[in-house]
Parts: sequence; C-alpha cells; structure tokens
Amino acid sequence: MHFTIKQPETKKEFEACYDLRWRVLREPWQQPRGSEKDELENKSIHIMACDENNNVIGVGRLHFNNETEAQIRYMAVVPEYEKQGVGTLILEALEEKAKQQCNIIVLDARENAIGFYQKKDYELLEKSHLLFGSIQHYRMEKNLL
Ligand SMILES: CC(C)(COP(=O)(O)OP(=O)(O)OC[C@H]1O[C@@H](n2cnc3c(N)ncnc32)[C@H](O)[C@@H]1OP(=O)(O)O)[C@@H](O)C(=O)NCCC(=O)NCCS
Repeated sequence: MHFTIKQPETKKEFEACYDLRWRVLREPWQQPRGSEKDELENKSIHIMACDENNNVIGVGRLHFNNETEAQIRYMAVVPEYEKQGVGTLILEALEEKAKQQCNIIVLDARENAIGFYQKKDYELLEKSHLLFGSIQHYRMEKNLL
C-alpha cells in the first residue's frame, strides 16, 4: 500500500486534517466539531499522511513548550489503515522537526496507544489527565540526543 507524508498547506488540506482528527479522536465520544482543535494550531507543525487518491489517512502535530522541549498531540490514523506503518512515518517526521530545535519530546498517550509509543522508545513516566471522564492518559517522554 502506497502513502505519502507531507505538511498541509492549503485551507482544504488543513480542514481535511481537522476532520480526520475529529472522526478518530472526538466523534466516538460524542464530542462536538471544534473540540479537535486547541489554541496552538497556528504555532504548530502539522504532518499529514495521504493515500494514493490524496485522501488524508493519518495526522499528527508538534509544538514547542520551551527551548528544550517539544510536545506531540493529536496523533490519529484512520482505523482501516492502522498497523501499516502510517503512525510510524508521521511520528518520525515530527521527531525530525523537533530535533532541529530541541532535545526532548513529551506527549500524553491514551492508554490504548502506550504500546505504540514504547515501540518508538518513549518512556512511560506517570498517569496524566482523564479525558471525557473515561480515557486515561499517560505522560511519556523521549530523549532525542
Ligand atoms: C496509535 C496510532 C497512532 C498508531 O498508528 P499506526 O499507523 O497504527 O502505527 P504503526 O503501524 O506505525 O505501528 C508501529 C508499531 O507499533 C505497533 N502498534 C500500533 N498501534 C499500537 C497500539 N495501539 N498498541 C501497541 N502497539 C501498537 C504496531 O503493531 C507496530 O509494531 P511492529 O513495528 O512490531 O510491527 C493509531 O493506531 C491510532 O490513531 N489509534 C487511534 C487513536 C489514538 O489512540 N491515537 C493516539 C492518541 S495519544
């Protein structure tokens, strides 16, 4: 299966990214449109994966917390394309961007995704927030040096 990775540029591409985020990370918990975004979108680095027909099949986002630390949020792959390497390519692209400016990446992983990040050398630190009253998150970190 063939897919490509890039940074969204057009309004249409950004809308497709937010739509995928919403469908994977918000809709199953009956959360409204708009809840898939935060106040850091314009200051963040966005990555999207597309299939051969240019449909968005995965997304991820990186922002900088300070001079030494970057944070990943909103990693999402559509269910039909899970476990085929899409998440890996998105994560690697975000890590490359982070390496250019800092040496640590942190993230809050959903409990079901911890195994994915552990495979990518993220260390499990502690329980963090509970989202929508049901999705436990765990703080994880990777040293890029
Ligand atoms: C978690 C997620 C981003 C992973 O993306 P993906 O494209 O399925 O991951 P990959 O195919 O690149 O997987 C890389 C490796 O991690 C493993 N893996 C993937 N998802 C996993 C999971 N949830 N738990 C444990 N291992 C996982 C794969 O089996 C693969 O292992 P291998 O290298 O031994 O073959 C994706 O499954 C997803 O969007 N899930 C639903 C939304 C979500 O939970 N997002 C994360 C929010 S923190």
